[in-house]
Amino acid sequence: MVDYPVLRYEHAAHSQEKGEYRHFMLKEIHEQPAAIANTLEGTQGEDHVLTAILGLEAETRLKDLQNIHIVACGTSCHAGLVARYWIEDQAGLPCQVEVASEYRYRQVAVPANTLLIAISQSGETADTLAALRYAKQQGYLASLAICNVAGSSLVREADWRLLTKAGPEIGVASTKAFTTQLVALLWLTTALAQVKDRAPEMISANVRALKGLPRLVEKVLHLDQHIEELATTFANKHHALFLGRGPHYPIAMEGVLKLKEISYIHAEAYAAGELKHGPLALVDENMPVVSVAPSDSLLEKLKSNLQEVGARGGQLITFACERVDMDEGEGITYLKLPWVYEAVSPIVYTVPLQLLSYHVALVKGTDVDKPRNLAKSVTVE
Ligand code: M6R
Repeated sequence: MVDYPVLRYEHAAHSQEKGEYRHFMLKEIHEQPAAIANTLEGTQGEDHVLTAILGLEAETRLKDLQNIHIVACGTSCHAGLVARYWIEDQAGLPCQVEVASEYRYRQVAVPANTLLIAISQSGETADTLAALRYAKQQGYLASLAICNVAGSSLVREADWRLLTKAGPEIGVASTKAFTTQLVALLWLTTALAQVKDRAPEMISANVRALKGLPRLVEKVLHLDQHIEELATTFANKHHALFLGRGPHYPIAMEGVLKLKEISYIHAEAYAAGELKHGPLALVDENMPVVSVAPSDSLLEKLKSNLQEVGARGGQLITFACERVDMDEGEGITYLKLPWVYEAVSPIVYTVPLQLLSYHVALVKGTDVDKPRNLAKSVTVE
């Protein structure tokens, strides 16, 4: 007989209850400022990140990394897709991202000194675990689990680990797990940039922006009532398009997944520059078009993409930066968000999209916390 150690994980009793909230999903959306602060606790100094939290072996090997491969499923994969922009831009490392269910069944070509990152809220998703096990035979430098459950299979089997501290997530639709994954991934990008001697101003700007995130997210949560009003636009709609550019394209994909999952409205996300290559043909007054328009280097490009939609009578709902002038007009609704530093913007712009799907689901009268046909943790293939 083998004696296994018993590990105990403590969570506050209130994390299992809805409290003042109507649904777990709404509660978890509102828990994001605290979840982000918990995830960052003890990970950064004044102007640098503390790479020691990854453990001695990881800390010493970070500088050897030349490539990153990311595998995950669903929402966790969207976090990886955002991170690709950050890692290539800020750390200068080639990064590829793939859904775990595809990755596990193909022959991958692994360049020297590549880190495999597996992202999962639960750490028990069958495809992500199988992808990690497969990757371990493929000659990676190491594997890293980014996960919300400390004692999960993924965390136990990966070489290195970076834990998100979102607390238990009960609603099937992932919310606070996603934003804390993004926080962990931006922290990791900063750590990579730091060991690769990239611009110190960029590193300290990331650290400051991460520190300020909980307050920013809190501010955006105050838009709840306006977003509730917008949700009625979707009452009789069967389809929607979501647009974004750069790292906000995967945020549009995440917005779409949330909307489909809990409101059962069919939606598609497009990188806005792709519109005229086909999907523009779908646009008419019955097609709400949601777009994410932060003040970034791609804003002018996005604006001209939105004009194309407006000219076809599409109903535009745009989440935009309060400091930016956008053309107002019939069928165009703007919701203004505070100005944010470019790197953390995908995290901040996620929040109104979560609230939008939540309120649309209420309008549709669906079972928000337990959408039909879905399970919280997909432990079978
Ligand atoms: O636990 P994981 O992060 O590995 O789960 C992956 C997906 O099943 C999960 O993100 C799913 O897409 C969510 N229900 C989306 O809200």
